[in-house]
Amino acid sequence: MQSATDSFLECNAQGLRQAKELEMNRRNAHRQVMKLVLSVSLWVPCWTALAQAMPLDVLHWWTSAGEQLAVEQLHASLLLSGVRWTDVAVPGGGGMAAVKVLKSRVLMGDPPDVAQLIGTTLTDWNDMGLVMPLNAVANRQRWAPTLFPTVMKLVTYKGVVIAAPLGIHRINTLFYNRHVFTRLGLLPPANWEEFEGVAHKLSAQGIKPLAWSDEAWQIATVFESILLGEVGPERYRELIVNRKSSAWLEPGIEKALTRLRWLRNINGDTPKERAWTDATRDLASESAAMQIMGDWAKGELMAWGANPEKDFGCVAVPGTQQMHLYSVDTLAMLSSKNKRTATQEKLAEVVTSSPTQLAYNRAKGSVPVRADMDVASLDSCARDSWSVFAAPGSARVPSLAHRMAADEATKDAVAQALWRFLITPQMPAKAAQRRLASAVRAP
Ligand code: GAL
Repeated sequence: MQSATDSFLECNAQGLRQAKELEMNRRNAHRQVMKLVLSVSLWVPCWTALAQAMPLDVLHWWTSAGEQLAVEQLHASLLLSGVRWTDVAVPGGGGMAAVKVLKSRVLMGDPPDVAQLIGTTLTDWNDMGLVMPLNAVANRQRWAPTLFPTVMKLVTYKGVVIAAPLGIHRINTLFYNRHVFTRLGLLPPANWEEFEGVAHKLSAQGIKPLAWSDEAWQIATVFESILLGEVGPERYRELIVNRKSSAWLEPGIEKALTRLRWLRNINGDTPKERAWTDATRDLASESAAMQIMGDWAKGELMAWGANPEKDFGCVAVPGTQQMHLYSVDTLAMLSSKNKRTATQEKLAEVVTSSPTQLAYNRAKGSVPVRADMDVASLDSCARDSWSVFAAPGSARVPSLAHRMAADEATKDAVAQALWRFLITPQMPAKAAQRRLASAVRAP
């Protein structure tokens, strides 16, 4: 029989063995943990580098030839800085479809890294906490002293910089085909009386005076230029920015609506809803002699090989000389689970740099957002747009049709009211004025 001492010693030895084992395990575990920590610490920077090197997902509605050429300019500049971008290009001029796609991606918890969000939609998305602040980039790149004040104000919300501006489009642009005008000895019209004279001569030659589309956003784009010329910049701001509902019942609005209806019927054919590029194609092919559209149409014509000094020209829509009805394209960086901050900031930095600004805007048809640019190398339309926007005495007014002035719902309600007025010939202008007055009524 084993003595108490033996069993104590035995037990002690066992305890020691277990303690040693435990110690070994602890050390092993510690070693394993340290190994894990080490590999993770080595792995995280690799992952971050990998994540940063991954292309940025960029959602926008630039799908036409000119728009795609401009996007390629951005691609090329960004690649030089090691930034790659994957296009999520949603067709549909004016961006209504793109905004819908963006909404659904965000709801599915899969927002893109970057999105074309412009004007008032920017602040809406920022209020939802989805937009990444760019103050660090703005300070580093000295945006406040170099960008146009109107642009800096547009991308700053409650002291936070919420987007990178790309270019300023001029909506109140009348394009004309130089070959047709030279052949018929015509001059681009500066007022509506001259426009009527030119249109009369063109119709007499069997040429459609004005390329047209019945798409609601295109109708709204034409209308806001006519309205600006009819009522002037101050009244325009009352109507569109301050949304003074009663002002929509004034005679100036009736004149602008009557002018709009006259323009739609000027070709004597049955207008159709078609892409803006189809209307621009009419101008290029001389089946129509003029078009009222934002100057993205210039980017398109140039992408088709037309030369703004030889083949087509542009002037301000009659009655809007020295006025700039603007729409500024901007890119917002969306906060997503991918944590792409460094790459998103780099994108914001590159797209606002002078060389990229020139290359992008030359192709896009818009003009640089920087007030310190030398635009001598741009075409005459661009130089005119930029200098009118830059001139202290000019009237710079925000486009409603392109989200610079009111929320999405108001923009759409106004476009619908105008469209309804045009496709209902028996609707008197006064009835449309009442619809517009309620459409803009501030909530
Ligand atoms: C505008 C946009 C422009 C141009 C246009 C036609 O809303 O700001 O960049 O693309 O739509 O699609």
